[in-house]
Amino acid sequence: MAIHKTVRRVTTHVLYEMKLRGEKIAMLTGYDYSMARILDEAKIDIILVGDSASNVMAGHSSTLPITLNEMIYHATSVVRAVKRALVIVDLPFGTYQGNSMKALSSAIRIMKETGAHGVKLEGGKEIIESVARILSAGIPVMGHLGLTPQSIHKFGTYVVRATDEDEADKLIEDAHLLEEVGCFAIVLEKIPAKLASKVAREVKTPVIGIGAGKDVDGQVLVLHDMLGITQEFSPRFLRRYHNLYQEIKGAVKTYIEDVRSLNFPNEKEQY
Ligand code: KIV
Repeated sequence: MAIHKTVRRVTTHVLYEMKLRGEKIAMLTGYDYSMARILDEAKIDIILVGDSASNVMAGHSSTLPITLNEMIYHATSVVRAVKRALVIVDLPFGTYQGNSMKALSSAIRIMKETGAHGVKLEGGKEIIESVARILSAGIPVMGHLGLTPQSIHKFGTYVVRATDEDEADKLIEDAHLLEEVGCFAIVLEKIPAKLASKVAREVKTPVIGIGAGKDVDGQVLVLHDMLGITQEFSPRFLRRYHNLYQEIKGAVKTYIEDVRSLNFPNEKEQY
């Protein structure tokens, strides 16, 4: 029987076991109680409280402005809803780069104040001290390589990463480094499928892709993108499973018409 069907709670060990058995890991982002409840009941393996909340919840044009307090608010709401999934929280921009003690205290705040199960950090060699220090406190860390949106002003664009040999070699080195230091999983974002597949084969750590092809150990998408709540964002890797933007708009329009035409409330909807 597939392990994800039997476990009552997804842990980092369950993810290793899934990789060993070739069972794919399903991860989605989540930022609030109501949605997290649906995701958990649907048996998603991991809910990532992503700093994409900065875009899809707060309306910023990048992930840079969101604060640690705001991430803690979102994560606390998600944790309240979850019985089975592993909940991982992004450390936001400015809370871990360049200072491993600050990184540790940011991660400790997330763990203490939210009840989440681990944190995610963007980058490889340049942040490895922060990753190691957080891990030394017993906090599970998920790595994130390839397109790392917190570095958007360095990249200048959201195009596919690691298409040239130098960047691909660095990414492979970074993945090994994250594995050696003890990360429990690594996200690979928007890189060539062949490269992602090579990384997933070379490391024992589960590799979760977004725009990284199918030959990795699991997939992640931003919830609002896959549900079709966001409209403007449509990279090639995004599969929309619904068009909630239009559905919600339609429902709201019908409600407005019903209110205006005295069709709502009716006899049965009053006291
Ligand atoms: O913040 C986020 O949503 C993410 C995913 C795209 C992996 O980091």
